[in-house]
Amino acid sequence: MSREKQKEIVICMGSSCFSRGNKVALGIIRNYLKENSLEVDITFRGAHCLGICEQGPVLILNDKTHKKVMPDEITGVLDEFFSSDK
Ligand code: FES
Repeated sequence: MSREKQKEIVICMGSSCFSRGNKVALGIIRNYLKENSLEVDITFRGAHCLGICEQGPVLILNDKTHKKVMPDEITGVLDEFFSSDK
C-alpha cells in the first residue's frame, strides 16, 4: 500500500520542558491519538533535551519545531497538524 510519509511527533522530555508543560502535554497527546484512532498512523516518541530549553516546552511535528507550546494549545496544534497533507 503506498502511503504518504508517516507523520511523526517528538515531544521533548528534557527536565525543563517536562516540568514546564510537557509532562501534561504527554497525556494530552496520548489521549488525542487514541480518541482519533491515530496511534497506528503515527510515530510518537520522546526526546532528550533539544538544547533550546528557554524556548520550551518544545514539540516537533514532522520537521517543524514548535516552541512554547503550552498544554492548553496542544489540541489546536494537533488539529492543524493532522488536517495538513504533509
Ligand atoms: S528540556 Fe526541552 S529543549 Fe531542553
